[in-house]
Amino acid sequence: MTNNFSSTSMKSGTKILFHIVMVTATIIAGIGCVSCRADKAVHEEGPGVWKLTFGKADHVTLLSELDCEPRWQSIKGLGEAPQLPFGLDEIQIEEVEGKTHVRFPLEVDEQIYGLGLNFKSVNRRGSTMRLHVDHYGGKDNGRTHAPVPFFVSSRGYGVLINSARYIDVWCGTGVRRDSPHQPEIRDRNTDPKWTASPLSDNIEFLIPASGVEIILFTGNTMLEVVQRYNLYCGGGCLPPKWGLGFWQRVPSLSTDKDIENEVSDFATHGFPLSVIGLEPGWMSSSYPCSYEWDKTRFPKPATFISDLMNKGIRTNVWINPYVSPLCELSNRLVPYCGSHTVWCGLVPDYSLEKTRKTISDYFASNHLDCGVSGYKMDENDGYDQWLWPDIATFPSGHSAEQIRQIYGSLMQKTTTDLFRSRNQRTYGLVRAANAGTNSMPYVIYNDYYNHRDFITALINSSFIGVLWTPEVRSSKTAEEWLRRMQTVCFSPLAMLNAWSDGTKPWTFTEVQKPVLEVAMLRMQLMPYLYTAFADYAMKGIPPFRAMYLEPGLLSSNREQKGTLDGTENPYEISKRIEIKDQWMVGPSLLVAPLFEGQSDREVLLPEGRWYDFYTGDYVGSGEIIKTHPTDYRIPLYVKDGGIIPMLPPIENFDYSIGYPVEVRYYGTSSAEYQLYDDDGMSFDYEQGDYVWIVLRVENSHGAIRGTAVLPKNVKPWSYDSFHFKFMTRH
Ligand code: GAL
Repeated sequence: MTNNFSSTSMKSGTKILFHIVMVTATIIAGIGCVSCRADKAVHEEGPGVWKLTFGKADHVTLLSELDCEPRWQSIKGLGEAPQLPFGLDEIQIEEVEGKTHVRFPLEVDEQIYGLGLNFKSVNRRGSTMRLHVDHYGGKDNGRTHAPVPFFVSSRGYGVLINSARYIDVWCGTGVRRDSPHQPEIRDRNTDPKWTASPLSDNIEFLIPASGVEIILFTGNTMLEVVQRYNLYCGGGCLPPKWGLGFWQRVPSLSTDKDIENEVSDFATHGFPLSVIGLEPGWMSSSYPCSYEWDKTRFPKPATFISDLMNKGIRTNVWINPYVSPLCELSNRLVPYCGSHTVWCGLVPDYSLEKTRKTISDYFASNHLDCGVSGYKMDENDGYDQWLWPDIATFPSGHSAEQIRQIYGSLMQKTTTDLFRSRNQRTYGLVRAANAGTNSMPYVIYNDYYNHRDFITALINSSFIGVLWTPEVRSSKTAEEWLRRMQTVCFSPLAMLNAWSDGTKPWTFTEVQKPVLEVAMLRMQLMPYLYTAFADYAMKGIPPFRAMYLEPGLLSSNREQKGTLDGTENPYEISKRIEIKDQWMVGPSLLVAPLFEGQSDREVLLPEGRWYDFYTGDYVGSGEIIKTHPTDYRIPLYVKDGGIIPMLPPIENFDYSIGYPVEVRYYGTSSAEYQLYDDDGMSFDYEQGDYVWIVLRVENSHGAIRGTAVLPKNVKPWSYDSFHFKFMTRH
C-alpha cells in the first residue's frame, strides 16, 4: 500500500488532494476532521497542530493511556501559526510488510533536535537510532530513559510519532535513488571532500505496526514549535515551591535517628534543606519491594515525617515497580501482573485501571497518610538483562514492547493522579518517561554519572518535554564536587544523591564556601525559577532550555550585522559546533558552567547585549567571549532588560508568609517581567487562584525607575515587598 500525497500544499490553500495509489480522494483542510478514506486522515486540530493518521494505527499509543488534555487556550494564545514549510505531498507514508514507513524531507542546512533524551550530542542529523526505553548505556542510539519520538526542525516545524513501539529512525542518513537532491559523486582516491555520509535529504521512520498517528506542529521559531508540542501534551508541570529547594538523599540503610542527626548537621552548617529522600532501606525488603515501612529503622514513620515537616522538610521515598510476592499488597495484585518477574518481584500492569487503583489505595494509606510528599520511581527503564523480555505477556493484552515504552509514564500518571486527588502537588524522580508526561511533576535521573554528558542531557530535555537532573553523588576532587554542585543548582531538581556513600554538601571542606553560596543562590532564585515553571505549565516554555531555542541564535539576519566574517560569526559557528555546555534558565539567565580541569571557557552570547549576573557589567553581544573567573563562581549572564526577582538567603522558606523581594535589573533597555505566585502547593491555581505581578523598569534619559504592579485586592502568597536593585552602572 503506497500513499503518495500529491496535493496542493497546506501552505498554499485549504484544498488538499491526496492521491493514493488505488484510491484517490479529496480532503478539505481546516478545523474539523477531513478524511479521504476511513484509515487515512489529516485533521487540523488547532492553530499550528495537525493530526495525520495512516492505516490501522495501534489502539495503545504514547498519549492514549495518559489522558493529557491539550491546552487549546494557551495554544491559541501563541497567535497565528505558520503553515508547514512543505506540502503534505512531501510526507511519504507506506506500509511495508506490516510496518509503517514514514519519510519527511530535509533541506541541506536543516537541523533536527530532540528524538529522545540523548547525552552525547544535540543535533540529530546524521544519526540512526531505535527509540527504546532503557537505562542509557553510553551511546546516543535511541536506548534511553525518555526515547520521545518528537523532533523539532530548524525549518520551524515539529513531529510527534505517537506510537508506543520501538521506532527506527534514519535522520538524514539514507540516500534514495529517487531523491530530488542527489549528492555529488566524488572519488575517494583523489577528492578530499569525499565523505562517508553523503547528503541525505530525508528523515525516515519505521514503525512496527500497520498504521500510525502523527502529530505535526509549526511555529514562528523553534521555541514556539516546542511550546505547541508541550501545550498539546497538557503543558509543563508546576512543582510545589518546596520542590525547588535543596534535596538530600540519605544512605540506603539510614534510620530515623540517623536522619534526625543529618538534618541537624544541615542546620549547623547553615545549609539549605527542603527535602530528604529515603532510599530502599526504608522498606522492610527491597528489591523486590514490600512497600511496607521497616519497623526497626522507622518504628513510627508518621511521627518521624511530621517532625521533619515541622522543620519545613518534606519526605520523598524511593520505590521500584517490582512487588515482593511476600508482601501484603502482592495478593491483591497477582491477577494484574505480567507473565514474568523482575528481581523475583511481580510486574504490575499499570495500564489497567484496577492495578492503578489497588496500588494507589495502598500507597495512600501507607505512605501519603503518614505524610510522604512524593516518590522516586526507580528501575522502570531497563537494562534488558533484568527487565521482562519482549515475549512477556500482560493481562491488559498490550504487548511487552508497548508496556516497556510506557511503563514509566504510567507510574507517573498513577502517582500524579493520587496526589492530585488530595489537591496536593508532588514533585519527584523517575527513570523512564515518554511523550505525554510533560505535565507530570517528575524529573529523570540515572546512574551514568558523566558530568559533561549530564549537561548535554539537560539541554536535550528541553526539546522533548521532559525534565532532567544532573544529580550529584560523589567526586574524586573538590574541584569536581564544586562544579557538579554548581550545575545541579541550575537544573529542575537540586539534589545530592548520597544513597551509597553518604557524602554531604560540605564533605569537601576546601570548597565548602562556594558550594554553600551556590545552594543559597538556588534558594534565592525561587521566585524566578517558580515563574519559569509557571511559564512551562501555562505557555509551554521549557524552564531550562537549549541555546538553540533562544530566538536569534540561529537567526538568518546575521548578514545585517556586517562586521562579522565567516570565521568569527557566532551564528555560523553555532551551526558548525554543538552548543551543549551552556543553557538558558527562565527568560533571561544564561548558565555557562566550568567543568573539572577548566579554568576558562568560551561562552556564546546570542544577539542582544549581555551582562554579568554578579556585577551587572556589560560582557558582550552576539559574539563568543572567553571567561576565566577567579572567584570559583559559576559564570552566569543576563540578557539586556533582564529582571531577576530574588528572596533573601534563607535555608528554608515558609512559603505561606511574605518575604521581601530584591528585584535585580540588568542592562539599559526598559523592560517588563511577569512574576507568578500562588499557594505553591495545591491545584487551586487551576481555578484561578494565582497572581501575575508586573515588575517594570523604565529607563529614559538616564532616569531609571522600577515599579511592581499588583492586581487590585490580591495579596501574593510568598512576597510582601519589592525593592529594585539596578545592577548595571550607567
Ligand atoms: C539505583 C538508583 C540510585 C539508587 C539505587 C538504590 O537504581 O539509580 O539512585 O536509588 O538504585 O538502590
